[in-house]
Amino acid sequence: MTAPPRKAATASPSLALKAVPFFTQMNDEELEVVRSLAVEKSYPRNAVVLTEGEQGDSLYMIESGRVKVFIGDEDGREIILKILGPGQFFGEMAMVDQQPRSASVTTLEPATFMILSHGAFEAAVLKKPRIANLVLRVLAQRLRDADRKIGTLVLMDVYGRVASTLLELAVNVDGKLMVREKLSQQEIANMVGASREMVNRILKDLSERGFIQVESKSITIINRELPSSL
Ligand code: CMP
Repeated sequence: MTAPPRKAATASPSLALKAVPFFTQMNDEELEVVRSLAVEKSYPRNAVVLTEGEQGDSLYMIESGRVKVFIGDEDGREIILKILGPGQFFGEMAMVDQQPRSASVTTLEPATFMILSHGAFEAAVLKKPRIANLVLRVLAQRLRDADRKIGTLVLMDVYGRVASTLLELAVNVDGKLMVREKLSQQEIANMVGASREMVNRILKDLSERGFIQVESKSITIINRELPSSL
């Protein structure tokens, strides 16, 4: 159990690729145009915002709160694709191609969104064309993200997937690398396609080997060269 790591999960690429929130890339005038065309709506915690397979054409920009993007099957199993927070958006896929929603979205905490219908988005782009470029940039980032995830699913075992997911979720807090998402072990399991028991075992092992410190509301990454296997 305490053998030195053979190989590290790829920390730096995922950290380097961390998306810049959409809002912060907009200037005041662009934000003003978006605000004037959007409708604001608030949801409580655990509310369903979008349902996979349903029709809809609105784009949701997150003003506050975090959401979970996931796909599920009939047995209630779910795969979490992404957790999004303030300054980010979702719902752009159906808005762009008018196809059914590709995933479901629920709130992890009370959240407020600026909602742009397809028509409102087109009006915003007519006034400020750069907004379309910013959306495209986020779409490219998401595709890179998805490619990386496919790589970890195919090339890494569960241990490596847990390690790389922790690194992907971690943010710098006063010089410490921390996962501050209030995620249950079941939710981490749903992100990496493994059982809760397996995730529990891996977190315990990483903690015993001194790579992470697990607290009730956060996980601190002590050594970012997380091993990708036992
Ligand atoms: P849409 O298909 O309209 O509704 C579901 C939304 O979930 C989708 O638009 C995207 O905004 C978001 N989504 C789907 N897949 C991913 C992913 N892999 N990463 C981040 N967001 C996603």
